[in-house]
Amino acid sequence: MKVSFSNTAKYEGAVAVPVFLDNRHSKGADALDEATGGTISRAQKGSRFHGKDGQTIVINAPSGIAAQTVFLGGVGDRDAVGVLDWEAFGARALKSVQCSGAKTLVFDMRDLDAPASARAVFGAQLAAYRFDKYRTTLKDDKKPSITAVRVICSDSAAAKSAYAPLKETAEGVILARDLVSEPANVLHPESFAKKAQDLEEYGLEVQILDEKDMKKLGMNALLSVGQGSNYGSKLAVMSWFGAKDRKEAPLVLVGKGVCFDTGGISLKPGAGMWDMKGDMGGAAAVTGTMRALAGRKARANVIGIIGLVENMPDAAATRPGDIITSADGQTIEVQNTDAEGRLVLVDALWYGLRFKPKQIIDFATLTGAIIIALGHENAGVFSNDDALAGALDSAGKASGETVWRLPIGAGYDKLIDSKYADMKNIGGRGAGSITAAQFLHRYVGDTPWAHVDIAGTAWKDSSDDPREPVWATGYGVRLMDNFVSEQCEG
Ligand code: BES
Ligand code: ZN
Ligand code: ZN
Repeated sequence: MKVSFSNTAKYEGAVAVPVFLDNRHSKGADALDEATGGTISRAQKGSRFHGKDGQTIVINAPSGIAAQTVFLGGVGDRDAVGVLDWEAFGARALKSVQCSGAKTLVFDMRDLDAPASARAVFGAQLAAYRFDKYRTTLKDDKKPSITAVRVICSDSAAAKSAYAPLKETAEGVILARDLVSEPANVLHPESFAKKAQDLEEYGLEVQILDEKDMKKLGMNALLSVGQGSNYGSKLAVMSWFGAKDRKEAPLVLVGKGVCFDTGGISLKPGAGMWDMKGDMGGAAAVTGTMRALAGRKARANVIGIIGLVENMPDAAATRPGDIITSADGQTIEVQNTDAEGRLVLVDALWYGLRFKPKQIIDFATLTGAIIIALGHENAGVFSNDDALAGALDSAGKASGETVWRLPIGAGYDKLIDSKYADMKNIGGRGAGSITAAQFLHRYVGDTPWAHVDIAGTAWKDSSDDPREPVWATGYGVRLMDNFVSEQCEG
């Protein structure tokens, strides 16, 4: 999507203007009303549109102007419009006219500040996302027509520079969505590792460990998950050194990259199993974040580590009851091969701790239980550090990718004690997301750590957030991009 900012008030294609509560017009709405001989005011009077946040009107073939479509987007009380409201405004506009035949979407933001303009475009870019690459029979009138976004604004230089880093964040979100959407015959541990390697193009340092390397390091927990697969398991390490001092302790991000989760020998039921192509959503969030940070040259040291495996039933697969020794020497009785994410994560966390991070945060589509607890509205956060949990909460509110903290503690920890080994990989029937977090907690010591369970937010069958597509959300990229800019770049 081509994006440009200028102060030339030229109408073409689809024109979008914001309207405030009680139908208070922005200057753009006033100008459009005048140019169309009062069409805007008439449309407002003839409907229940009052400029409330989220209300919209689309007017086709307006008279008096060269544009083919006009979009009015309510943004609520003028004094209370925040950046997320501007994103939603831009997203709704884009979604309303995406397949209308108009090629250009013009935002008239002439009396609004640079962040408002930049966020409207960011929202439009997120909303424009589709995963259509495998459709061969899409009818022409169902194909997106918008190829460019133009913003009318008073200070185009300021808007352009406010937008520049957001463009990189959007690219990171789009990358994460693409990774989650790709089927597992295309995106498997080996091809995912190559995609991570490709990010060297943006200035990231990327190292790929294969099974031989991991065997040497004793990473048997991770390896035990992939041993039934025809694809070799990988660990990809993506490093960005943007702080003044390359030696400054990094933030380490760890992602669960189970490219397909059949459940292994503890096989999942067939219905809905196809969604498990997205079980690498944690790895996608980390990869997308690294892409965004490198793209906008973040002034922080951040290392992204993703454990890439495929969990398959096979003669060579791990059996329930098998006991394995993870890289840090702790032993695990694998009672259920479908609780595989935690096995991948603990060895990846162990690898991350070798960088002596100031904080370590893992992302994983870890438990179905988190969907029972929180639905698709919030990711679950578990942490041994109140300040870190608080910072994630703030980043969630600021980015729109919200989190909700759940407890950990000794009472839950004992539920994963094993009769035969240091621990077992499942707890009882209750508190499934917490016992999973307790398992990870046994590996992180005193390092400030947070675990983000994104099983309910990495993909959704439907969403009323106009910035989100029908399935893969790219959850985690905006959250971590915001976290890094607020907490690490000072
Ligand atoms: N990948 C799943 C969790 C999941 C479920 C993600 C639904 C997204 C949507 C994970 O590996 C898993 O299978 N977890 C089990 C754990 C259980 C065996 C203790 C679960 O949640 O049922
Ligand atoms: Zn599983
Ligand atoms: Zn899984």
